[in-house]
Amino acid sequence: MVIIPKNIQELVSYKPGKPVSQIIEELSLKEWAILWNNENNLGPSPKALERIQQTLNNSHLYPDPAATQLCAMIAERNDCTPDFVTVDNGSESVFDCLFRAFFEKGDELLTCDGTFVAVYIWAKSNKTECQRIPLARGYQFDIDRLVDAVTRNTKAIYVANPNNPTGAMISQAQLEHLIDSVPKDVLIIIDEAYYEYAHAITEEYPDSFKMRQPNVITLRTFSKAYGIAGIRVGYALGDPSLIEAIRKVRMTFAPSNIAQAAAIGALEDEHHVKKAVTLNKTALQQFYNAFHEAELEYVPSYGNFVMLDLGTEDVAKKFTEQMLQKGVFLRHLRAFGLPHCVRISTGTPEENELLVRSID
Ligand SMILES: Cc1ncc(COP(=O)(O)O)c(C=O)c1O
Repeated sequence: MVIIPKNIQELVSYKPGKPVSQIIEELSLKEWAILWNNENNLGPSPKALERIQQTLNNSHLYPDPAATQLCAMIAERNDCTPDFVTVDNGSESVFDCLFRAFFEKGDELLTCDGTFVAVYIWAKSNKTECQRIPLARGYQFDIDRLVDAVTRNTKAIYVANPNNPTGAMISQAQLEHLIDSVPKDVLIIIDEAYYEYAHAITEEYPDSFKMRQPNVITLRTFSKAYGIAGIRVGYALGDPSLIEAIRKVRMTFAPSNIAQAAAIGALEDEHHVKKAVTLNKTALQQFYNAFHEAELEYVPSYGNFVMLDLGTEDVAKKFTEQMLQKGVFLRHLRAFGLPHCVRISTGTPEENELLVRSID
C-alpha cells in the first residue's frame, strides 16, 4: 500500500459546497448578491477579453515561459527592471514556489492567526511548521509579537496587507519596524493581494516593494481589482536574487498564453481598475452606514470586503443563513478561525444595494 505522508493525511481536500445556481433554485431567490469570495463583480476589462480573443488562435503554441511582455509591463509600472518580477498561476502559485525555493528541513514559517487560511495549508503540504501568534486588538497583525517570536528556525514571516479576512492594514511605520527588527536572513513575505483597493482608500497605504529591501518578497495578483480571478495570474516583486530562486522552481509554462494575454489587457485598462476601486470605496461607505444603523460591529477595511464581529459563533451562523435567505451570499469565518465573524465582499451597485436592504 502506498503510504500517504502524515502531513498530507492530516489535510482535508477542498470540499465544494452546493453550486450557486442550485442554491438560487432551491431558495427560489428572485435577486442575489454574490459577496463571499472577494472577487471583482464588475467582471474583467473588455481589453482583457479582447487580448484573450486574439490569443485563442495560438492555443496550439506553448506560452512564453519568461512571460516577457507581461513582466516588462509589471516592471515598468513598479519602476524597476523585469529581473525584479516573476509571474505565475495566481499569487497562490508564487507562494507555493517560495517553499521549494527557500525552505529547508526544519525551517519554519511565522505568521498570525486569522489571516489568509491557504497559507497554513500550503505550509503543511510543504512539510513546513507554521508558528502562529494571536492577532492584536482591532484584528491587527501583532508586529511586536511577531518580532519577538522569531527564532533560529524562522525562515520566513508572512503578513497580508491588508489582511484577509479582517481588512486591517499594517502602517508604513509598523512595516518598517518589522523589517528593521528581524535578521536579514529571514524572508519577509508581504501579500498585497488588495494593493489597488488599499491604495485608493488611503495614501498612507505602504507599498512594500518601494522599500527595496533584500529580504522582502511582495505578492500581488490580477484576481482582485483587475477582475480576472478565474484566469489565474499573480506575481512577485523582490530582489533579483530572490526572484531568480523562485524562477528556478516554477512550472515552465505558467501562466498560460491566454492568462498572460488577459493580464496584459487588464494592465492596459487603467480605467477599468479605477472604476473598480472607486465603486469599492463607495460600497464600503454604504456598508458602514448600514452597519452603524443596525449597530453591527465591523473592522474598517482596506480591501474589497469588510468583516463583521457578531460576538458569537451562533449569531454569526444565523446571520449568514438569514442573509442567504434574502439572496446575499457571504462568508462565515469559522474556517478562518474567527467563528464569531463574517466577511462580506463589495459587489456591483445592485448587489451592494441588496446587502444594505437586507441588513435593515
Ligand atoms: C490575501 C490573499 N492572498 C492571496 C490570494 C489568492 O490570490 P490569487 O488568486 O492570485 O491566487 C487571496 C485570495 O483571496 C487573498 O485574499
